[in-house]
Amino acid sequence: MINKNIENLAVQYDHKSPQEILAYALTAYEHIAISFSGAEDVVLVDMATKIRNDVRIFSLDTGRLHAETYRFLERVRDRYQVQIEVLFPDPLAVERLVREKGLFSFYKDGHKECCAIRKVGPLRRKLQSLDAWITGQRKDQSPGTRIELAVIEKDAAFSTKERSLIKFNPLSNWSSAEVWRYIQTHDVPYNELHERGFISIGCEPCTRPVLPNHHEREGRWWWEEATQKECGLHTGNLAAVARG
Ligand code: ADX
Ligand code: SF4
Repeated sequence: MINKNIENLAVQYDHKSPQEILAYALTAYEHIAISFSGAEDVVLVDMATKIRNDVRIFSLDTGRLHAETYRFLERVRDRYQVQIEVLFPDPLAVERLVREKGLFSFYKDGHKECCAIRKVGPLRRKLQSLDAWITGQRKDQSPGTRIELAVIEKDAAFSTKERSLIKFNPLSNWSSAEVWRYIQTHDVPYNELHERGFISIGCEPCTRPVLPNHHEREGRWWWEEATQKECGLHTGNLAAVARG
């Protein structure tokens, strides 16, 4: 039943603005938080703080982010006077991975194992305390994996038999151009890496700038297939694409 209701809601909200979707999310769910990567999803922070002044925000610190991203998180904290809950991975799991495979194992055997430890573990822990979460995912970020992305969905990766977790993607239908227009019009602070050719920003060893006319996703895990470029935070997208 919950699936049906969420599907109906997704259709109802598909043509609404990100602000309207956020307003619904932040009033309908008490235990809800924004998952902020330190990139252009900062627009969610700007929009949400205009709706509620007690918005919860968390960020997954993999230990491998750019120094610029750490500085940016602090600028956002200062500018909006919000707390950003920074989540760290299990130190024992990181130590074991690095001891057994070194600091750059992902170049040899793929990013999944490292992302599972550094991102998915802490996210899973955080999501246990929430009924819903808000992401900055957009369809245009990844034609290979996000083309079906609904503005509201049941989280296919982190819901359990006992508990449905709802995922809001208010920017799903916005283009990169619309996001950047918003950043400029509302004088929103942005990660200084964007001034150096970075479009999509993740961890430092797994992100690089892209050339003009190259797709932003080409700067992420560039040694891997486009259809595999989800790190575990959004694996539901891979299932949706596989279903066609
Ligand atoms: S990823 O899965 O490939 O890394 P991407 O960088 O496109 O994701 O970001 C999509 C959304 O996932 C972000 O807007 C944010 O909501 C969430 N996200 C990604 N990385 C992080 C992070 N380090 N901390 C918190 N949220 C993140
Ligand atoms: Fe590890 Fe790279 Fe994934 Fe970051 S993006 S958690 S460094 S594999």
